[in-house]
Amino acid sequence: MFLEAKNVNTYYGESHVLQDLSLNLEKGETVALLGRNGMGKSTTIKSIMGLVSPRSGEITFKGTKIAGLPSYRIARMGIAYVPEERRIFPNLSVLDNMQISIRKNGERETEATDRWNLERIYEHFPVLKDRTSQKGAYLSGGEQQMLAIARALMGNPDLLLVDEPTEGLAPIIVKEVRDVLAEIGEAGVTILLVEHNLKVAMSLADRVYLMGKAKVGFSGTVEELEAQPDIRAEYLEV
Ligand SMILES: Nc1ncnc2c1ncn2[C@@H]1O[C@H](COP(=O)(O)OP(=O)(O)O)[C@@H](O)[C@H]1O
Ligand SMILES: [Mg+2]
Repeated sequence: MFLEAKNVNTYYGESHVLQDLSLNLEKGETVALLGRNGMGKSTTIKSIMGLVSPRSGEITFKGTKIAGLPSYRIARMGIAYVPEERRIFPNLSVLDNMQISIRKNGERETEATDRWNLERIYEHFPVLKDRTSQKGAYLSGGEQQMLAIARALMGNPDLLLVDEPTEGLAPIIVKEVRDVLAEIGEAGVTILLVEHNLKVAMSLADRVYLMGKAKVGFSGTVEELEAQPDIRAEYLEV
């Protein structure tokens, strides 16, 4: 198994936010993690990335136990994170925003022969090429999201964790972000996607996990979920 989380328990203080959460990803898959607000989707991603430390349970990535490791070590092993808040440096140019992550991640061993570099990034993100010397502060929400994804790719991740990439974006920009994620998936990057836009999630994902409170309640293919409207109602609709 490429990534496996098994009986993960994560707390914020006394609050038991992930309760025996288990999920897994095969290499090359795009998997969507869906559920209502507050169920623990972002905490799941942060637990994998090492931004919060699970109190118990196991997370293994390419056969190595990573639960509890600091996030910079997890990043070096090939996991990249695109946070919900995007965290673009407002005073740095688009180019510097992307290059800062190369330095941060250092040179990483990777099996990939087609490494992500600026040239390849600009092919997939023409909008960033046009705005390469623009400061982060002057980018639109959609451009910031593209930059956040591009910056994550500069570290040549094998696994990309993406939290709510289309949130707050206009429909036409939602489609652009969707399309770029589809291209990244087709390029062989494994993706764990948290997404509130069901149509976007279903169009990208090979498989879907639905989170109920603090744990996974449904796991199946997109087709299986489409065939079970009652499950959708239980986990997604308000
Ligand atoms: N830093 C934090 N400190 C305390 N509680 C938090 C923190 N972050 C999230 N929570 C709580 O943990 C639960 C799960 O949050 P989160 O993982 O962000 O859910 P989701 O991403 O599914 O909306 C929520 O009840 C939320 O209020
Ligand atoms: Mg969230």
